[in-house]
Amino acid sequence: MASLQRCFDVADLRRLAHRRLPAPMFHYIDGGSDDEWTLRRNTEAFEDYELLPRVLTDISAIDLSTTLLGTRIGLPFFLAPTGMSRLFHHHKELGAARAAQAAGTLYSLSALATTTLEDIAAVGDAPKMFQVYIFKDRGLTRDFVERCRAARYQALCLTVDTPVAGNRERDRVTGMTMPPKLTARSLLDFIASPGWSLNFLRHPDFRLANVVHRVDALGREGPMGLIDYVNSQFDRSITWDDAAWLAREWGGPLVIKGLSTPEDARLAQSIGASAVMISNHGGRQLDGCPASIDCLPPIRDAVGGSLELIVDGGVRRGTHVLKALALGANACSIGRAYLYGLAAGGQAGVQRVLDLFRHELMLDMALLGCRNVREIGPGHVQRVRSARRGARTPPIATEAIDWVSRRNAPTR
Ligand code: GLV
Repeated sequence: MASLQRCFDVADLRRLAHRRLPAPMFHYIDGGSDDEWTLRRNTEAFEDYELLPRVLTDISAIDLSTTLLGTRIGLPFFLAPTGMSRLFHHHKELGAARAAQAAGTLYSLSALATTTLEDIAAVGDAPKMFQVYIFKDRGLTRDFVERCRAARYQALCLTVDTPVAGNRERDRVTGMTMPPKLTARSLLDFIASPGWSLNFLRHPDFRLANVVHRVDALGREGPMGLIDYVNSQFDRSITWDDAAWLAREWGGPLVIKGLSTPEDARLAQSIGASAVMISNHGGRQLDGCPASIDCLPPIRDAVGGSLELIVDGGVRRGTHVLKALALGANACSIGRAYLYGLAAGGQAGVQRVLDLFRHELMLDMALLGCRNVREIGPGHVQRVRSARRGARTPPIATEAIDWVSRRNAPTR
């Protein structure tokens, strides 16, 4: 069987993850909603942009660090919030957070994680972000805010594209459940993944660790009670007023995750968000949304330099990060790509993903003629000029130039 060291890109890690995971778990990571058009488009859309290298620029020292959410991070990309990591490897969120710590980048913990936010804070001093939903039980959300403050999280992230879960057909086909259940149907999958199955029996810690106390307080025992509780807590009535309430409760850097339009980015700004994650939830919610990278130029155009923009969705290569930065992003977040690594090899697998991205980005920046993130700008990117592509996508905002000079201003 191929080892991590024989994985040279995210596609290799995906193949290894496929071999190591039972089908329901693999397809839960890999799949999107409906026809998975947005899922595919997120990555394909990067091909609509081409990079314009500058030469003879002295690239003897390359610095990948940048500033985001009021802190310095070692890489212009970080680990996105993703739920229930225990499904994919028994190193779960701890393995991913340790890999992010080693790489000196931000780790984002999902409210639906299988590790407590306090255990993740204890991993080390690299910045942490906690992702929340505004649950019907406002006490639960308030509780998160207080715990994050006590555990010194750098930022809070509010996901806004999930008033209901998307139509994930693969999960229905494979019979995906949380926690996984051993049934006549899943038995063959489990036998085909002996390593994962052994650890399933040895480390049955599939609880949603940050909400479990709330369920216990309600007197509902057992994992299905937990999932029922979480599902029942998604509040379809929340609005920007609720987001503003959260911004006030928290008072620190707040990221709004899951928007695609300039109008919503402006609203995020108006309620006090310091950043938005341009995201369609990895193509897992509304199929038919545009690719995240295509939403970036009009949003940057609308908000100028006053709001940090994070591109989330389809990022698989160092050149993708480079294109996003050149189009006006402050950073990218990586979700599915690192989960393939986690599934393929636990903490070492996530480390491998981060190393591959780092390695590619170092080379790519050198070849682009940029020594640091501040030097990457709109002059380094153009839209592919084919009629077919040009017809589908809007022009790149020229106003981004002004914003880039502001991003480039030293922060300390
Ligand atoms: C959770 O956020 C998911 O997309 O499954």
